[in-house]
Amino acid sequence: MRLHEPVEESKTVGWPLLEREAELASLRRLAARAVRGEGGLAVIEGPPGIGKSRVLREAAAVARDTGMQTLDCRGTELERQLPFGLVRQLFETRIARLEPGARDELLSGAARLAGPIVCATGGYDVPAGPEPASSVLHGLYWLTANLADLGPLAIAVDDAHWADAPSLRYLTFLANRVQGLAVLLVVTRRPSEPGAEIELLDEIGSVPLAHAIRLGALAPPSVSELVRAALGREPEPSFAAACHEATRGNPLLLRELLADLAQAECEPVSRNAERVLTLAPGGVARSVLRRVRRLGPEAVSLASSAAVLGTRADAPTAARLAGLDPAPASDAADALARIDVLVPGTLEFVHPIVRTAIYAELPSREAARLHGIAARLLAERGRDGDEVAAQLLAAEPAGDPWTVDVLHGMARRARARGAPEVAARYLHRALAEGTAEPPRAELLRDLGGAEVATAKPHGADRLRQAYELTADPRQRAQVGLETARALTLHGDLAEAADVLERSLADLDGPDPELSGRLEAELIAVSISDLALRHRADAHVMSLFEEGETIRDPLRLATLAIVMASVIEPAATGADLAERAVRHPPLSPEEDQLLYLHAANALVSANRFERARRLWDQAVDRARHAGSVTAFGFASTLRAGISVRTGALGEAEADLRVPLETIGGDPRLPFTFVAAPLTHVLIERGELEAADRLHADVGPGTDLPERIDQNFALESIARLRLAQGRTEEGVALLRELGRRLEAFGIRNPAAVAWRSLIGPALARVGDRDEARELVAEEVQLARGFDVPRELGVALRAQALVEPEDAAVDLLREAVSILETTPARLEHARAVTELGATLVHLGHRSDAREPLRLGLDVARRCGASVLAERAHSELVASGARPRRLVFSGVDSLTASERRVADMAAGGRTNREIAQALFVTEKTVEGHLLHAYRKLEIGSRSELPRALRRPAGE
Ligand SMILES: Nc1ncnc2c1ncn2[C@@H]1O[C@H](COP(=O)(O)OP(=O)(O)OP(=O)(O)O)[C@@H](O)[C@H]1O
Ligand SMILES: [Mg+2]
Repeated sequence: MRLHEPVEESKTVGWPLLEREAELASLRRLAARAVRGEGGLAVIEGPPGIGKSRVLREAAAVARDTGMQTLDCRGTELERQLPFGLVRQLFETRIARLEPGARDELLSGAARLAGPIVCATGGYDVPAGPEPASSVLHGLYWLTANLADLGPLAIAVDDAHWADAPSLRYLTFLANRVQGLAVLLVVTRRPSEPGAEIELLDEIGSVPLAHAIRLGALAPPSVSELVRAALGREPEPSFAAACHEATRGNPLLLRELLADLAQAECEPVSRNAERVLTLAPGGVARSVLRRVRRLGPEAVSLASSAAVLGTRADAPTAARLAGLDPAPASDAADALARIDVLVPGTLEFVHPIVRTAIYAELPSREAARLHGIAARLLAERGRDGDEVAAQLLAAEPAGDPWTVDVLHGMARRARARGAPEVAARYLHRALAEGTAEPPRAELLRDLGGAEVATAKPHGADRLRQAYELTADPRQRAQVGLETARALTLHGDLAEAADVLERSLADLDGPDPELSGRLEAELIAVSISDLALRHRADAHVMSLFEEGETIRDPLRLATLAIVMASVIEPAATGADLAERAVRHPPLSPEEDQLLYLHAANALVSANRFERARRLWDQAVDRARHAGSVTAFGFASTLRAGISVRTGALGEAEADLRVPLETIGGDPRLPFTFVAAPLTHVLIERGELEAADRLHADVGPGTDLPERIDQNFALESIARLRLAQGRTEEGVALLRELGRRLEAFGIRNPAAVAWRSLIGPALARVGDRDEARELVAEEVQLARGFDVPRELGVALRAQALVEPEDAAVDLLREAVSILETTPARLEHARAVTELGATLVHLGHRSDAREPLRLGLDVARRCGASVLAERAHSELVASGARPRRLVFSGVDSLTASERRVADMAAGGRTNREIAQALFVTEKTVEGHLLHAYRKLEIGSRSELPRALRRPAGE
């Protein structure tokens, strides 16, 4: 029997479909939408037996008739743990039928990430990202889009309440993006089926595009009609009324009742109406069981084994499980088909409710025993491990090491393929098996890992238990590392440090590489929290002692960032960072830490372009792995660098994807994203939007004393100053200064807080303190040799020192900044110079710097500064053109990015895949860009984008 054959009905095929015209009309409309490329989504809901599958089949037929390709799949009760079971039903056969060339085409671009799931013949690698689940999702989405390119596509999903979680994640992901695709997605579900993945199911239904179809019961005339169809003659009214009353218009109940009546050769006449009412109670289950029992014990046991084996029952296995020889088993199957229990020629039930009726009759121990035997039989026949595992999940724990082995192996495979939920389920069951010496530590470790991947809170606890149970020091240390990472993710830094310290102590030397990782992780955890800082001291000291001789890239990068923060000049630390990154890739987690340290060290030495290239690389790698989290992380950090150089549009475009996950993904802390975004918004004068971003932060000074919060403090302080709430800003900056001191961070390239607080203090009257602080910053910036911060500090000094010193200071600031990539700071200094000259009455000298300030500020997208330069220009007596942002300037960050990529020759699809958005989004951005640039087509883009600003 084929695996994915949709159930064809036997006797009811000839039944007319009644009272579903309106529903079918909606489905037809949705299909038409889909064909137009606008996407269609319907969720068909209703109680068991009401006719969901029937309408779905009808919808698929409609779609086929309109020339759509159709894919279908169906959840089953027994197989809800089959990883990507539904997805595989949808795609596997379709893909297997293709010629290799066509298959490669279909699985090209981001779709290749779906290869390991949908291509049974292999040949595709499991994605190498930190979380395969999101990569696979991305891949499946693009596979769907590629298929829809070949022609409009209808996807029919029956019984989604029994879908496996990974498949359902795909369906939800697709549902949210179906709008721009030539895809019709129709899903059926029972509203309240126990054990269903309700959240995911509800999410599909709440997509704005989703059309809900709720099926109701059939009215009496329809019931009459169906009675006539089944019993072969017009029923007398009271008989028909009895059928309606007994089934309340539920078509399945009716169908079963009629099968019963037909078997008993009951005539549809009034005198038999009583009989209908006595047969009906107990519904489907009673009726099915009655019919099966009448056939005798062999039919009963064959039906039971078919129910235990589920949709994949093959005849020999079912016969063996039933304890029957092949011939009587085959006779029993035929008999079961004749009474409308099995689909003729198969061991498949005509309806899931029929299977449930048979299955529910088995005492639960007996069912569990049969599942255990079934597992062995399937394994002997060489069936896929997941099928075996599905049986084992339902089998009684029996202390069997083989069971543990199978489940453990399948759990690992599921995890690697992006089905961590399933992996967790398998591992739970393996732990419950109760073998004498279970590999408990390993099971717990894998379980913890799977739970961390599904963001389940117990993940870290589980890992810690595994840690305690692991005897071998090296393995233990490895588990310790995983535990600490999970704890860090949950914000339990102190506990993470405990575990790391213990692991290091236990390991005591034999594995320098592992010790290096543990140490680097311990330092990273400890130096990010003021309360834990002291725990890094000894380790940092030893790093300093080893210095240049360190080979381990992570330790080297750790030393690099520590040095660049405290040792003058910053180049010494940055050189180490350069060495650290000249190293083959490590694991995704380790690479993330390595890049973070190294890029920060480079930024600390003003090597912005180098740091940016690191994040470029990380972005590319994340793209290749299809990892949206890694992509978000790298883009966010790249945005931080763009903010420093004044490429505000680029920064904003980089923050778009992370903004969507902000707060929802612990791997990307809120402040990482919020801080650079706040800067951008301030420069554009969008203070309210910036304020909203921090609405639930409170005064700010009470933020946790963690290193990432420094950036939050800085950005909120800037916001308060921009809002004119100077005292609040000053208070925040004082707090920031105190913390930086406590963290031991002296390099102003980390946070130039003194240059910020100085001018603010001077405004509120504390000029002496202001001068002192700014002078200190000038000195530090010289010492660390960071020209950007030196220029910034000199400009600040001009604002706090007496007026006669200002022009010289500003000239010096300008001459330093103009040689750096920090264009926005250059614009700020040169504008300040012009404004000061205007103020001092040197109006004509002021014009040139002001023009330059205006031009550079515009190019950066810094509208507030551009406006200031403009109005000072007016004050200087120049007559600059009116300041309007049009053409290239008026593009939003995302429009600009998409337009640049399109101008570079990339297709919409390539752009969408690269930016983790849909093609529709790309099209939207391009259309807006064309309008603003006043062009009609893609080919005009390169020229239009090169047009100088304001023309
Ligand atoms: N509107 C209808 N007119 C005639 N027969 C119908 C109608 N709806 C359903 N049926 C018949 O009733 C039976 C049950 O329908 P179906 O299997 O579609 O129910 P379901 O809602 O999918 O149930 P479940 O929740 O168990 O999956 C089928 O034999 C089907 O052909
Ligand atoms: Mg159904």
